Amino acid sequence: MSKITDKSLAEKGRKSYQWARDNMPALVTTINKTAEEFSFKGTKIAVCLHVTKETSVLVMGLKELGADVYLSGANPLSTQDDIAAYLDSEGVNVFAWRGQNDKEYQECIDATLDVEPEIIMDDGSDAHITLHQNQKYEKNNVIGGTEETTTGVVRLEALEKSGKLKYPIIAVNNAYTKHLFDNRYGTGQSTFDGILRSTALLMAGKKVTVCGYGWVGRGIAARAKGLGAIVSVSEIDPIRAIEAVMDGFDVKPINELAKESDIFVTATGQKHVIDKNSIRNLKDGAILANAGHFDLEIDVAFLQDVAKNVKTIRDNLEEYELDNGTKIVLVAKGRIANLVAAEGHPPEVMSMSFSNQLLGAVKIKLDHKKLKGLIDMPKEIDYKVAKHALEGMKINIDTQTQEQKDYGESYVI
Ligand SMILES: NC(=O)c1ccc[n+]([C@@H]2O[C@H](COP(=O)([O-])OP(=O)(O)OC[C@H]3O[C@@H](n4cnc5c(N)ncnc54)[C@H](O)[C@@H]3O)[C@@H](O)[C@H]2O)c1
Repeated sequence: MSKITDKSLAEKGRKSYQWARDNMPALVTTINKTAEEFSFKGTKIAVCLHVTKETSVLVMGLKELGADVYLSGANPLSTQDDIAAYLDSEGVNVFAWRGQNDKEYQECIDATLDVEPEIIMDDGSDAHITLHQNQKYEKNNVIGGTEETTTGVVRLEALEKSGKLKYPIIAVNNAYTKHLFDNRYGTGQSTFDGILRSTALLMAGKKVTVCGYGWVGRGIAARAKGLGAIVSVSEIDPIRAIEAVMDGFDVKPINELAKESDIFVTATGQKHVIDKNSIRNLKDGAILANAGHFDLEIDVAFLQDVAKNVKTIRDNLEEYELDNGTKIVLVAKGRIANLVAAEGHPPEVMSMSFSNQLLGAVKIKLDHKKLKGLIDMPKEIDYKVAKHALEGMKINIDTQTQEQKDYGESYVI
């Protein structure tokens, strides 16, 4: 039933799957412990996630637990075709390949919804929103779902506010064991992985602007600093701006930074953060990359409109020569750079994110009748994932003594 490009890549994909699995002990523990007491047998799950080696470990785990998985990608350019081929060879229904156009991307999501899944596991909420907006899914079997990322959660909050959210969804992103590590350390490292693979330039001494100082922006700014860059931040939130200042970064409006910086990385979840005006102010040779979920943080349409010449320099790197002769370099077409120009987050962080996805889906299956609306991960699941992660890292920590517990619960010193 799959729709993929090259089945012959299955063996390559299997090796990558194994490497990821070996480095995702928390997820393996979560799968094994869940299997002792729970089964998804007979449950159809539509999974709309970036098709990476880490995702293959989650998908194989869902399969081990008895689920019938229907997988589509979460971005037209992020699918690792070897992983798609490996999962297909294991009997997973995969509808994804790298380099889809927007129509093909949507058709693949539709294919996973056409099978009438009970649970939808999403990253960015394209699957959830499709189900809510398309008349053909008005009648459906969905009992609930999960959502992986900040932008997806923001979209679902808007859907809930409009009174249209049809089933309970667990905001996986809001778990501490997700956003503290995945958004910050995962995106921080992998975004530079993408920038380095595409540009192959030295970061030391470069002026790097990070747009947005949320979880993702903090990680990117920290890694840029670690690589020796001179880092600036643009923000709209006064508290986050102060945090960036006290973390040692130069904070200024984007239009000022546009004139100064060599490299820009957007991480806001917002539209046109680098807009026409900023683009007009950029230095010759400025490099633009985006780490946010959607490809609208940089006004790429404007770049295309005013470019008199566009040339591909290397894989995932294009140079736009503007009408005034300025050359602007764009990484990964302005799409999510760590997944398009690199391989996404390292397995160790996805191990925690996907433990949350898996346990979120289990909770939906068991408790959907008691759940309503968009909800955060229950604290006990968050702590369970953290414990599994520490076990995987072979790190022991202290436990509170009874004396300390009593002290913590008393108002008498
Ligand atoms: N690349 C990845 O693998 C990856 C991983 C996790 C999250 N994400 C995505 O990255 C984006 C950011 O996620 P987050 O968790 O950091 O969100 P967040 O809400 O913690 O942070 C976003 C920050 O951007 C700031 N911001 C908003 N508009 C701005 C503007 N015009 N100029 C400057 N700053 C602005 C906000 O004030 C906020 O501080 C989202 O789209 C999210 O889905 C990507």
